[in-house]
Amino acid sequence: MNKKIKVESPGRINLIGEHVDYNGGSVLPGAIDKKVEFIVENIPGNKCFIESKTINKKFEFDFSSLEKSSEHWQNYILGTVNNLINKKNQRISAFSCEINSSLPIGAGISSSSALISGLASSLIEINNLEIKKNEIVDIVSDVEHNYIGLKGGIMDQFTILNGQKNKLIHLECHSRNFKYVTAEFKDYQIILLNTNVEHNLANTAYNDRVEECNYALKLINEKCGNKFSSLCEVDLNIIESLKNDMDVKIYNRASFVINENLRTHDAAIKLNEFKLMEIGNLMYQSHAGLKDLYEVSCNELDYLVDLTKAHDQIIGSRMMGGGFGGCTINLIHKRFIDEFIEEASKSYYEKFSINLTPIEINVCDGVKIKNLQTD
Ligand code: GLA
Repeated sequence: MNKKIKVESPGRINLIGEHVDYNGGSVLPGAIDKKVEFIVENIPGNKCFIESKTINKKFEFDFSSLEKSSEHWQNYILGTVNNLINKKNQRISAFSCEINSSLPIGAGISSSSALISGLASSLIEINNLEIKKNEIVDIVSDVEHNYIGLKGGIMDQFTILNGQKNKLIHLECHSRNFKYVTAEFKDYQIILLNTNVEHNLANTAYNDRVEECNYALKLINEKCGNKFSSLCEVDLNIIESLKNDMDVKIYNRASFVINENLRTHDAAIKLNEFKLMEIGNLMYQSHAGLKDLYEVSCNELDYLVDLTKAHDQIIGSRMMGGGFGGCTINLIHKRFIDEFIEEASKSYYEKFSINLTPIEINVCDGVKIKNLQTD
């Protein structure tokens, strides 16, 4: 049976809870109204045709040649197809796929997971496969780890698949238990500011952090009788009592992660109670930790966060996502947004000779699938 579908796969924001997902911690993300769109159709034969309107490139392949390509973007596609066929043992038909994205690449709003999650969802739909959302999360994660080389957690793909309009997801990454929390900020609005900085070593540095955390967990477990299965289970007292047994860098990483996880729980409670000032403070604390203890920020991000501190109309700001560039997330009074964007853009350009891109977002539903034609 021939099927033609349109799939929309959103990016995500994360209010707080950075670099805790791969440590079994808790995050507060939401899907957004900037997305990757796919038109996918199953076709006869065994050749697949892919076209990205966004980067203006095309390629074709068949199912017997799914090895990694030297063209990085092709690996998102090849990895997804390979995973479905060779790891999930699914039969899929040849297909054509046209991709169009309004998600800036490298901005920390998860263009990468949106691409893989959207394609996986498309292929599942046109082939009528029975695969649950949590399995799709694992498929996307596996492609990122093995084809893209980013040893990330599950926050992005989980959010992209489970997002709901006007709701953030308070997700416990270890158990995958989650609750929706209404994203209501009253007089304030979330604005992202894209530094337009993308450091090429970001993947490597990200993977280093994952390893450092695994090492911290190993050291803690050696002292505590292998009690913990993830870093976020470790009590603050424990990490403090082990401070002198660890290299300062490893202590700093672990201390950041444990505190960030506590901040996220706190922020989810405060969001339910509309205690927005307190959420803002937690965001500033999160940024300070990401900068000084976790060392994943950069001058451009720090500069933008610092700029906000002079204005009472901005109650919170921090870097968002993996770091080393990308966006800050800000809670700005609605009446001050235009003025601040103007000031920040000017001052950022004067300092770095880079244009700043403000991004207004709405919190939206996760992946959406629409049938275009069936026969
Ligand atoms: C990237 C990863 C996520 C998460 C964030 C940092 O977006 O893909 O899994 O680790 O960085 O919170």
